Formats: sequence, structure tokens, C-alpha cells
Amino acid sequence: MQLAALLFSQGFGTRRECAALVRAGEVRVGGVVVDEPWAEVEPTGLVVEVGGVAWPYHPRALVLLHKPPGYECSQKPGAWPSVMTLLPPPLRRRGVQPVGRLDQDTTGLLLLTDDGGLLHRLTHPKRHVAKVYQATCADPVTEDQLTRLREGVVLHDDPAPARAASAATTGPHALELTLTEGRYHQVKRMVAAVGNRVVALHRSRFGPLALPDDLPPGRWRWLDAGMRFDAAQDAPG
Ligand code: URA
Repeated sequence: MQLAALLFSQGFGTRRECAALVRAGEVRVGGVVVDEPWAEVEPTGLVVEVGGVAWPYHPRALVLLHKPPGYECSQKPGAWPSVMTLLPPPLRRRGVQPVGRLDQDTTGLLLLTDDGGLLHRLTHPKRHVAKVYQATCADPVTEDQLTRLREGVVLHDDPAPARAASAATTGPHALELTLTEGRYHQVKRMVAAVGNRVVALHRSRFGPLALPDDLPPGRWRWLDAGMRFDAAQDAPG
């Protein structure tokens, strides 16, 4: 692939801007400045340096963000900044989108990708990708509430009961819930339906992925292309 075309594919600007970056001596390959935009490079496994920053080539972007509170997942946020502002411009230009949504005040694991097929597979209701949430509740969590969460509660907008695949207390006011659906405000509405109230919510897992302990709020990292979790997590149907 030509170097300028590779930069273009990675979100570094228009074709013309990418060629100009190369000509300006801003791009290194293997530690050496390459100032010929049409120089051929082998993209697989390549790490280019652009303006001194290392950028591993990814044909498709898949990143994991530790979402802090105070950010919206919406593309056109209102009162709060978008989670996209936490990503570097090349990723934003590539059009990465959140895989599902977390509320403005929810923290934790959020995936973003520019791979439309993967996005569809991971958010499709029939895929039943398991998501694990830790909720802090206003009132003590009771055994009866746990049982009702597991057995299913009816939410306003849907007669089909919403069930937690698992629900357990992790402290007097703390609850860990596993959901395999992705309905709007699902955790908060399920907890409200059993007579309690979520005051803080965190997502620690998405499918087989856990939020890394060493990834602080507001930071992100690439996920390996070898991560086949979408296939591994598929439930039949
Ligand atoms: N359920 C909620 O209520 N909010 C979230 O952000 C995620 C799941």
C-alpha cells in the first residue's frame, strides 16, 4: 500500500493532507523518515510514526475506552461532551461509534469501532452478549429484589419481562448484575421496578472482555484484531 493511502485509511486527513504530512517529513517507518507519499509499505503489523506518535496500522478500528462520568455516547451530545472527544482525531475521523450506549453518569467499559458488521453483531438483540454491571443502590438490596431481578420484571415500554442472567449483592447497597439484552436505561429501570434506585453504575465486562485494572478513566486502548469475542459470545439464534 502507498504510504499516503495508508495514512488516509487510518484517519489522518484527506488524501492531499496525508500526502502533505509525508512530504513535510512528519512520517517515519521503521524509525526512518519517508518523505515520498507514494512509497510502498507493507501494512500488516506496521507501526508508523506520525508527528512523533506511534500509530499501529489497523484495517478496522476496535478500541476499549474506560468511560468516565460526564460524557455522552450520543454522536450529537447535548449537555455533556461526547465520548468521542476522549479519542484522538484519527479515530474520530474514521467514524468509530460506541458499541451500544452507556448513560452520561455510567462509568466503565465501552467499546468503539468503525467496523459496521462487528457493531451490528455485538448489539443485535439475538446475540445476547453478556454485560456485567456494578450498581450502587440508594436502599439496601434485599433477597426479594435479587429474586425478582433474576425472574424478570416488566418495564413500561415492553410487555416482555427483562431478566438478569445473574444478580448478586456485593455489599449492603451494592449489586452485580449480568444482562444479555441492551434495553434503554435497563439496569436503572430494572432496579427501580423492584423498588430500589441506582445511584452509581459501572460496567466491568462486555462479553469476555474485562475492563483492564491499569486503564484509568478517560483512557483507551486498541483491541487486537485476533480478538474473536464476537464469535465466541454468540448464542444460538
Ligand atoms: N443500564 C442503564 O440503566 N444505564 C447504562 O448506562 C447501562 C445500562
